[in-house]
Parts: sequence; structure tokens; C-alpha cells
Amino acid sequence: MPESTATEFPEMEKILVKIISSQTLHCQWLNLLSYLEFTGSRKIFKTQQNRYIGESVLKHASDEARHALLLKQMLGRIQSDEHYRFYDYKHMICPFSGYRYMQSLDSMVKRRLQESADYAPEFNYLCYIYVSFVIEVRANWLYDIYARLLAEAGLEIKLDGIINDEIRHLDQMKKEIDVLDKDQDTNIRFFLAREKILFERFLLNLQKAIVRK
Ligand SMILES: [Fe+2]
Ligand SMILES: [Fe+2]
Repeated sequence: MPESTATEFPEMEKILVKIISSQTLHCQWLNLLSYLEFTGSRKIFKTQQNRYIGESVLKHASDEARHALLLKQMLGRIQSDEHYRFYDYKHMICPFSGYRYMQSLDSMVKRRLQESADYAPEFNYLCYIYVSFVIEVRANWLYDIYARLLAEAGLEIKLDGIINDEIRHLDQMKKEIDVLDKDQDTNIRFFLAREKILFERFLLNLQKAIVRK
């Protein structure tokens, strides 16, 4: 398997410092993360057929739903405002852009795997594995930075449990790719390069949103 690390974006740290320093931005950010975790969980169930939904898929989807809950609870400890009770787009930072990032990853992976008939029998499952793989690579990178900055700011928000789950998910996806895809080297390089473009677009929107606040 080729190197599977996320493209670094040094500006992420500055953005997160700004977010953490404002209670409103921080609540909107936690609400967004929770929403994206929830979207990930829902996406797993929506896209997988019964014959692939075994213990590992059930565990993965329920972990992501639990992350959504944990982030919502962390948010509740910062601010008990009614606004943040649900996933109201008005009370998240860059919700459209975050959602579009995930949707675009999905379409990008699908388009690529559709090009080869070899993947037809396990097409949906492999799409799920690759989309999860690129998201987990990014999530591991992002949660690490976020956790470090939270600790530096002296905030009592602990992401260790979530981070350990994301590390495990990434390992799982790698194992599945090893078994299922003999062209994994070129595919992984392609997917990570595309993910970089999509994440950069999200990041630009995040930067703009912060400047406006
Ligand atoms: Fe997660
Ligand atoms: Fe995950």
C-alpha cells in the first residue's frame, strides 16, 4: 500500500485557533463535526446492501453515530443554547461546504471505480471502503491537530476515544483494500490527490466564513 497520509494544510492550525477562541464559532464547529459524523454513519447504511452489512459495517456505522453524539454532548457542555440542539444549518460553520465535501468524495470514487468492469461485483462495497478510507485519512489528520490545540487552550474536551476509533477504522479499510483491490496503488494515489482538491475547497470556505464572523 502506498503512503496513506493526508496532504498537510498549514493554515488549518490558524483556522482552528480562531475557531476555538470564539465560543460561537467553536459551537458551530462542533455542531458541524457532529453533523458530518452523523452523515458518515447514515451514508454507510444508505449505500450498503444487506449482504455486506455484517459486524464490521454495523460497528463502523454505529461508531460514527456515537461520534456524532459525543461531539453534540461536548458542544452541550460549552453552550446549552437551544440553537445547537439539532443540525440547523444556521447554527453550523460551513455546513453546505462540509456536506458537499462528503458528497463529492462519493461521486469521485464512484466515477473512478465505474471505469473498470473488474469492480462490478463488489462495486458498492468497494466505494464504501474507499470513501471511508480517504475520510479516515483526513479525519485522523484533523482530529490530531484539533486535540492538540484543545489541550493547549486548556479546554476540557477530550477526543482520545474518537481518535482511537478513527485509527482503527483506517486500519480496517486498509486491510479490506489489500484484499479487494489489486490496483490499489494507483487508485489510492488518485483518490488522495482528488481529496486534497476537495478538502482545499472546504478549507477556503471555512477561512471566508471565519473572516465574516
Ligand atoms: Fe468518526
Ligand atoms: Fe471513522
